[in-house]
Amino acid sequence: MKAKARKLGRGVALVGAGMSKFGSFPEKTGRDLFFEAFRELLASVDKGFDPREIEAIYLGNYSSDLFEGQGHIAPIIADWVGLAPRPATRIEDACASSGVALRQGALAIASGLYDVVLVGGVEKMTSLPTERVTDVLATGGDALFEIPAGFTFPGFYAAMATAYIHKYGAPLEALMRVGIKNHKHGALNEKAQFNLTIRQIMENKLAKAKAQGRPLPSWAGELDFLRDEAANPVIAWPLRLFDCSPISDGAAALLLVAEERAKDFTDKPVYLIGSGQASDGALHSRPELASIRAAKLAAQEAYAMAGVGPKDIRLAEVHDCFTIAELIATEDLGFFPPGEGWKAAMEGLTSLHSPRPINTSGGLKAKGHPVGASGAAQAVELWQQLRGQAGPRQVPGEPALGLTHNVGGTGQTCVVHIFRRG
Ligand code: COA
Repeated sequence: MKAKARKLGRGVALVGAGMSKFGSFPEKTGRDLFFEAFRELLASVDKGFDPREIEAIYLGNYSSDLFEGQGHIAPIIADWVGLAPRPATRIEDACASSGVALRQGALAIASGLYDVVLVGGVEKMTSLPTERVTDVLATGGDALFEIPAGFTFPGFYAAMATAYIHKYGAPLEALMRVGIKNHKHGALNEKAQFNLTIRQIMENKLAKAKAQGRPLPSWAGELDFLRDEAANPVIAWPLRLFDCSPISDGAAALLLVAEERAKDFTDKPVYLIGSGQASDGALHSRPELASIRAAKLAAQEAYAMAGVGPKDIRLAEVHDCFTIAELIATEDLGFFPPGEGWKAAMEGLTSLHSPRPINTSGGLKAKGHPVGASGAAQAVELWQQLRGQAGPRQVPGEPALGLTHNVGGTGQTCVVHIFRRG
């Protein structure tokens, strides 16, 4: 199926963005985290604005019900940040919840219904122990056919990794290279859950062993560290600890306005020029595991709307919930041909100083993955990068076009957005 060329009914601009720090915050609720993101968003609007101008809220959240015992979270959060009685709608599409919320906010503006919309995402995951989080996440798969067979999310992506490795002969080192790169980027992002390189993590472990008088492991470098079963245990073969995104708390917020209102808020807006979304069956029902069909369709739709192609994209935030997912994403988005993504990762063609850096924020792997917040947080990174405000991880040369790729579940939902510097 080929994506139809579609246009937004009117232009949409991003004029403010913020996010909380991602990590584990036992003392904070989802509302506290969203408030932090919202406060940063308010400060980011160059010309300032009255939050009462916001006409509607679209909030991505996967499962505050099960993680926090709080359902119906959109109006609760709207009220918490002082926006009741504006309409507040929760969007649940697993890990793509806030990417889809962004699309819904944009469509609401494009339809002419609203001029100023708040989009966000929030998830508070660390209140449950890992085994419970794993069960909650697994419900994003197929509860009839997959969960009873023992699948968990690391298990799903392990199946995809196995298929990819089998099909293309990719070495495990390619997965490790993704983790090394994304931790390097995350080390430059103060909001990241892991703002340490893998080398720094390794050196900290060596220093700790030394201080405790334990025998020192003989790791010659990061790859040695990652190949050590004790330092980097298998979670679901072939995926190890450092192939997984962590369990995270966090929130992100975006202010979208109708294009003609953008200059009231800032002289440096970022325009949303492409949006695509597609869905698919659960993983067990798909003929191909080494690629995500819905991601390809969503990308086609977004490229067609924006009138650009993969070659025009200067940087991308892709959904690396597991390292294999980044390799597959770079192929599904057309950055590299099928089976070549792993080679590009090995050659450093996706790192910060490459022609098309991937996951400058640290990605889900290092920045963290509070699932309902991740899609919106990807757009926060592009907001900073396209405005030249990404500090030590700034992509050089005034990048003009950036893309976000947000996946729900194993690819049952995919949403792709393309942004242009104003
Ligand atoms: N990457 C690297 N290190 C990690 C990590 C990750 N993803 N998760 C935890 N760690 C580290 C911790 O910092 C800690 O380090 P320390 O011993 O030096 O202090 C150590 O591993 C143990 O942490 P803990 O929180 O006890 O880990 P855990 O075993 O409970 O959880 C995973 C590890 C991989 C099982 C968990 O992070 C996970 O389930 N991730 C996948 C989440 C997911 O599926 N998301 C949805 C994707 S679609």
